[in-house]
Amino acid sequence: MTQIFHRSANTLTILALAGVVAALAGVCLALYMTTWSNYKTGVGIDVQQPVPFSHRHHVRGAGLDCRYCHGGVETSAFAGIPPTHTCMTCHSQLFANSPVLKPVRDSFQNKIALQWNRVQRLPDFVYFAHDIHVGKGVGCSTCHGHVETMPLMREQNAFHMRDCLDCHREPERYLRPRDQVFNMSWEPPADQLAKGRELVREYGLQRAILTNCSTCHR
Ligand code: HEC
Ligand code: HEC
Ligand code: HEC
Ligand code: HEC
Ligand code: HEC
Repeated sequence: MTQIFHRSANTLTILALAGVVAALAGVCLALYMTTWSNYKTGVGIDVQQPVPFSHRHHVRGAGLDCRYCHGGVETSAFAGIPPTHTCMTCHSQLFANSPVLKPVRDSFQNKIALQWNRVQRLPDFVYFAHDIHVGKGVGCSTCHGHVETMPLMREQNAFHMRDCLDCHREPERYLRPRDQVFNMSWEPPADQLAKGRELVREYGLQRAILTNCSTCHR
């Protein structure tokens, strides 16, 4: 057979193909990074606030329960952000002249709510409710991480669809007894899967409902 291409053409073709593959991989990686990276989603990045409110100082230091400030969490879709007068219950006495608390005092005097920056935010087309999760043994720390160690709040979980489904498909991996929901130091026991399966039965979870599109997209 006559040789149409010079031998070196093989090497050139391979190099060219390798170049195309590398470029495609680069494009995919760039897309992946812009969609899923922590930079885009804000995971692990401290959110700046008008007042440097510290969950570490208030939860671990002062020993406050989440419900003291997020009272809606057991009874409604929203946990809620506390109004200024909740802060003033203590800070009208404690650090009453501290400069860091000036925005809190101003807000209280002028009756203008503090503008806290949101940390965790789902798109509008997704339905989420706190009460059902809290009532079925899903702990705050499973979704929000170790809040009691955070000087400023940061997102633990971007909550892409796959993150919600990860639990909705296999809730036994995460469920805990109801009385442990607010316990920030709860860790899954060695036999979590067995315990979790018992809880799935006890709470009467319906797997078909958990993974149905209309559960979260209504
Ligand atoms: C003394 C009041 C107080 C207590 C107690 C408290 N929080 Fe908060 N929490 C706040 C305030 C104020 C904000 C808004 C500022 C910020 O994000 O840090 C907030 C914000 C949050 C956010 C982010 C909300 C968003 O913007 O998406 C989460 C999550 C949260 N708290 C969870 C908890 C958990 C879990 C506990 C119990 C371990 C707890 N908090 C206890 C006052 C409190
Ligand atoms: C199953 C995961 C999950 C659990 C469990 C959970 N949260 Fe949330 N939380 C979220 C998501 C997702 C958002 C954002 C909701 C949105 O954008 O509509 C959120 C938002 C919040 C907010 C912002 C205000 C609001 O009501 O939207 C606070 C405060 C909060 N959570 C506190 C808590 C506390 C306290 C607990 C434990 C009692 C808890 N969360 C348990 C997923 C969870
Ligand atoms: C139940 C009492 C109580 C409530 C309610 C309370 N605080 Fe505090 N706060 C404290 C205590 C105690 C400290 C000192 C904690 C420490 O230094 O360990 C503190 C400290 C602070 C500080 C100083 C910086 C720091 O974290 O050490 C700021 C700022 C602050 N609180 C803001 C707030 C805001 C904003 C609210 C309302 C959302 C609030 N606090 C509600 C008790 C409270
Ligand atoms: C760690 C586990 C876990 C995570 C993470 C989780 N869920 Fe759930 N979810 C549950 C459990 C358990 C139930 C209760 C199901 C039941 O009662 O049958 C539930 C119920 C629900 C329901 C109510 C279903 C009904 O019966 O009406 C909605 C809506 C929902 N989840 C949305 C979400 C969304 C959106 C996310 C992600 C932001 C999410 N969940 C993340 C465990 C989880
Ligand atoms: C447990 C809750 C949950 C269930 C069940 C669920 N989704 Fe989603 N879905 C979400 C969340 C949360 C987002 C937002 C993702 C984000 O912000 O990245 C989302 C986003 C989407 C989007 C927008 C594109 C994207 O990926 O961001 C589409 C389309 C979608 N869902 C379709 C579906 C279909 C079809 C089903 C059924 C097979 C389904 N979802 C079931 C929670 C859920």
